[in-house]
Amino acid sequence: MNENGPRDADASAFEPPEPHVIVLFGATGDLARRKLLPGLLHLERAGQLADCRIVGTSLEERSTTEFRKLTREACESFGRDGFDGFDGFDGFDEECWQRFESRLSYVSQASGPAGPAGLSTAVAEAEASIGQPARRLHYLSVPPKAATSVVQMLGEAGLVGRSRIVMEKPFGTDLASAKELNDKVHQVFPEERVFRIDHFLGKEAAQNILALRFANGLFEPIWNRNHIDHIQIDVPETLSVDGRGKFYDATGAFRDMVVTHLLQILGFVAMEPPVALEPASITEERNKVFRSLKPIMPEHVVRGRYEGYRDEEGVSADSKTETFIAIKASIDNWRWSGVPFYLRTGKKMAEGGRIISIAFRAPPKSMFPADSGVGQYGPDHLTFDLDESSRISLSFYGKQPGPGMLLDKASLQFSLSDAGKEEHTLRAYERLIRDAMAGDHTLFTTADGIERLWAASAPMLEDPPDVQIYDRGSWGPKDVHELILPHTWRLPFERRWRD
Ligand code: BG6
Repeated sequence: MNENGPRDADASAFEPPEPHVIVLFGATGDLARRKLLPGLLHLERAGQLADCRIVGTSLEERSTTEFRKLTREACESFGRDGFDGFDGFDGFDEECWQRFESRLSYVSQASGPAGPAGLSTAVAEAEASIGQPARRLHYLSVPPKAATSVVQMLGEAGLVGRSRIVMEKPFGTDLASAKELNDKVHQVFPEERVFRIDHFLGKEAAQNILALRFANGLFEPIWNRNHIDHIQIDVPETLSVDGRGKFYDATGAFRDMVVTHLLQILGFVAMEPPVALEPASITEERNKVFRSLKPIMPEHVVRGRYEGYRDEEGVSADSKTETFIAIKASIDNWRWSGVPFYLRTGKKMAEGGRIISIAFRAPPKSMFPADSGVGQYGPDHLTFDLDESSRISLSFYGKQPGPGMLLDKASLQFSLSDAGKEEHTLRAYERLIRDAMAGDHTLFTTADGIERLWAASAPMLEDPPDVQIYDRGSWGPKDVHELILPHTWRLPFERRWRD
């Protein structure tokens, strides 16, 4: 998975990438505070940050001292190396913090002081303090509209050489805007230096799909239309739009979650075995899935809006934006012909979850009488939980102990904690920042792939079905149950995961 070739099985043996200057655009924003700065601190602690300087920049006026203070507060509030001893760490590691803090500097992009010249001076100073040629990683944690001006500015500032850029979604809002964005980026950075981040692909469980499928002889032979009945990718959220009303109202559930996260995961579930475990082959196979995705038709879509959404701050009073979406998708190739993929996600739903559920076909003929319990709990399932615990469960029918032949659903379960290596886990952003520094594209999306997904989405985007209101704390509009007939949604689970 890495340009450095195969590595030791012990994760601690993974080499940190070469020296870097990371330029963090949007350094005082929400994503930076919640994920990126705490994630970088964790990489420092895990010995994965290399010799690196982090130049924070944003439109806010701040000094380097203030930026360091903001970063410390962010790491204390949102980091896993914080005072609460989360994840087994027993307290903030002051030594690690001092090391990390000394890497941080700040330059403002507010009118006046900085501009391209100020930024290039700050980067030059950071490079000089490393004392050897460093790579540059420009992380654009900025709204889509700002992304193209940042890219242009990097060109003007002479900061393109030895550089890679990481871009945050949304990558356009439809095919035309995605193409325009990609063209503008490509005028400055070639595709091989662009890393479009999709944090779902950085989750341990998402990568475990690849391990499970391609490291075993057990699953791949049945991973096709002959044995799989249907697949669900279901990501209900209990959150509302929580202070992101303005962004969300202009985006909606489809653009926020489906094009980026759910369909990207579908790529891993549905792809053919790559010729090698290396970025180009994996990307090629994922993009082939996207090319085979049938156009998403309005009649295969249910859109919903939770009760009271229009009263949220930043949301327009006559908003037509969906906060819920469910889709029946199909892949037009030999492996998946006739197998529906059901995708669902929404805000303010009954429970939060992030599951992929593979439903297997029933045996062609059953010798068990109807009252034996056969089929009572639906088909056999392989379920991936994309949560931090990264669980996998295989459920099947077994005999109930005692006389006669009564059946019950049983399951084999595996969770990350069973592997006993939790201390090696990198959270999604940590993993992806590290991979971008190492130049590894495996878990990133490409211009081609994104454009293809927008092309397949066109019928739905051009003629979206009406938005239906659903109760807060429900599972979405009632039509969502019709969409999946004759099947049913796996969530809510009839039985909980075992602890
Ligand atoms: C983000 C979306 O990309 O993913 C949010 O913008 C969503 O709306 C979030 O809540 C979900 O991510 P996770 O990792 O918390 O499941």
